[in-house]
Amino acid sequence: MSASLAAVRIDRVIAEIEQLSHFSDAAAPAVTRVLYTPTDMAARRYLQELALAANFEWHTDAIGNSFIRWPGNRPDLPAVATGSHMDAVPFSGKYDGVVGVLGGLEALRMLRERGFVPQRTLELIIFTAEEPTRFGLGCIGSRLLSGAIDLAALQALRDADGTSFEEARRAAGFNGDLGSVRLSHGLYHAFVELHIEQGPVLESKGIAIGIVTGVAASTTAQITLEGRGGHAGTVPMDSRDDPLVGAAELILATEQMALKSGADAVATVGKLAVHPGASNSIPRLVQLSLDVRHTDEVMRDDMVRQLTQTTATIAQQRRLVHSFQIVNSDPSLRCSSLVVGAVEAAAEKWALPVLKLVSRAYHDTVFMGAICPVGMIFIPCRHGYSHRPEEYASPEAIAAGVQVLADSLAELAGGIQP
Ligand code: GLV
Ligand code: MN
Ligand code: MN
Repeated sequence: MSASLAAVRIDRVIAEIEQLSHFSDAAAPAVTRVLYTPTDMAARRYLQELALAANFEWHTDAIGNSFIRWPGNRPDLPAVATGSHMDAVPFSGKYDGVVGVLGGLEALRMLRERGFVPQRTLELIIFTAEEPTRFGLGCIGSRLLSGAIDLAALQALRDADGTSFEEARRAAGFNGDLGSVRLSHGLYHAFVELHIEQGPVLESKGIAIGIVTGVAASTTAQITLEGRGGHAGTVPMDSRDDPLVGAAELILATEQMALKSGADAVATVGKLAVHPGASNSIPRLVQLSLDVRHTDEVMRDDMVRQLTQTTATIAQQRRLVHSFQIVNSDPSLRCSSLVVGAVEAAAEKWALPVLKLVSRAYHDTVFMGAICPVGMIFIPCRHGYSHRPEEYASPEAIAAGVQVLADSLAELAGGIQP
């Protein structure tokens, strides 16, 4: 066990997690923090205060990705970064993303307080909009950083109120050139993200550290079904073209298709908008969101193909006009042996039990993987709960994750241990 890395100051981290959870548009214990809202902006200011109080450099790019920097003594070498997100889906918890942000900050503070002098610059990145809540697209910040989305497509995204991404970011005070956000290959030597598992495996097996070997491929689509609407009392049942009944059929078909596609497959309809939404009107237009994931990219593509076909068949049988629009179709990620090795060595140093696993939640790490070697550290969370207010990770679990993150960063950055 390294004498240079004393125990994590976990009370400080827990106090900051609690403090950050108050920046929320839902009543505690739920957290809602949506991109570019006043609440999101206030949370960002809180993080900036913490970073500056710890004497780190802070800068923000043209969409609000924020970078906390600790210059190394070899600034000519590619940097080593950690990071995660602070936005929170509606009525969720206080740990998703936040553990990687505040745990990452703690890892940097701890290394410095213990006298570590990094060779490579160390960075903590707080990514803008990992969650798809506002614009229907997740990982906006890391997509743009890594060149996975073109600027016109990004600017054109619209939220439920019709506000474009471009209007929203300018209203939030981010006016810089979008083209400047893109980062080059070679800028980072490695990236490692600390995150709660968001599933039950680590807790059920009594494992402290999950070492992520890959992330599942995910596709998001928007589907619309349109009929003619009408009066709920006067249009006979046999002459209706009700898109909500078609949507119900499609949702059931989606569940069946995922169940038949094996344990690595998941498919979810999480959003449904019904127009005009009157109890005595037959619906005229229904919009559904579709989220399809599989650890195998080819299988994921096959699931999406099947659902495209099923949508067309249901629409034809029910005399509906339909559209099936892919919002994003992302590759699966394989983590780098450089980062996996560093995390393994760090966990071994502290005699922490580890398990290698694949993530079916997606993360900014997927997109950082397009520009540098990447990996992830998972810690257990109670009952695997996530995206709900009951989400919880214990101080002990967080401390172990921060310790392993700090040692992984020190190993990847190189430097002088006191
Ligand atoms: C991110 O929260 C995801 O949907 O996996
Ligand atoms: Mn999430
Ligand atoms: Mn997350």
